[in-house]
Amino acid sequence: MYDVLVVGSANADLTVRVDRRPGPGETVLGTDLVESAGGKGANQAAAAARLGARTALLARVGDDAFGELLLDAQRDAGTELRHVLVEKGARTGTAMIVVGPDGDNSIVVSPGANAALSPADVTAAREVIAASAVLSLQLEVPERTVRAAVAVAAETGTRVVLNPSPAPEVLDPALLAAADPLVVNEHEARRLSGLPDGDPGRRAAALRDLGARSVVVTLGAQGALALDADAAEPASVPGVEVEVVDTTGAGDAFTGALAARLARGASLAEAARFAVRVGAASVTREGAQPSYPTAEEL
Ligand code: RIB
Ligand code: NA
Repeated sequence: MYDVLVVGSANADLTVRVDRRPGPGETVLGTDLVESAGGKGANQAAAAARLGARTALLARVGDDAFGELLLDAQRDAGTELRHVLVEKGARTGTAMIVVGPDGDNSIVVSPGANAALSPADVTAAREVIAASAVLSLQLEVPERTVRAAVAVAAETGTRVVLNPSPAPEVLDPALLAAADPLVVNEHEARRLSGLPDGDPGRRAAALRDLGARSVVVTLGAQGALALDADAAEPASVPGVEVEVVDTTGAGDAFTGALAARLARGASLAEAARFAVRVGAASVTREGAQPSYPTAEEL
């Protein structure tokens, strides 16, 4: 039925650019506020759908203007919306984002309706998970909900792509064991591998030793490493040189694109090569979802 089913968060992104980030107790002035569609789950779905994958999103939003904004953005990307649940009287998840002059961001998320996405919501979607090639997950909804999704996917034989972001101190072993691949940036790789020093290849190997079936480490401008289940060495994917405007949601674009390609039978390295191009395209434009490319634009 679907190439990619995303279970996860949807947030309205409230973004301000600043010349310099404020320190504690400090006030700085920024640019005009921009409201746009974000949230790690919704971002992954929009990225996959815009690239032409048959994509559905299982998420919760509130019955407010931000919820409408998010539904419109998914509609525009081509995502199937029948599994998005609108929660009466709840606020849609919101992300407060500050983007510095280097295009790097700092984000605070207020979960709102995302916090109500429950294990029961996931088990009710069992047939949808069974009929999807790839289940794509992140950690911006309650962990017990992600665990429920992984448990259903194990029963139905659905491949799980997991981006453990925001990164917990310790990742639940059941989540790690389901990840094929685990998609981590350098910060997440360092934290979850327990290897503060050493190179990304060693961290990828350590994460596989800890239980992940396969691992992809994203390296920003340097591309990515893909360590498949039975590979002796990680495949190295070079970066694409672009002018960085805003990196918000680049990792989600990468993961959505990766899931889309894996769903169509690409190898992990092939999918990572494609995903690097999609992530790179996304950083050349403002915002998360508004910056995601179509296959033609690539
Ligand atoms: O990964 C980027 C996303 O993180 C933003 O869109 C924001 O909503 C937060 O979820
Ligand atoms: Na962007």
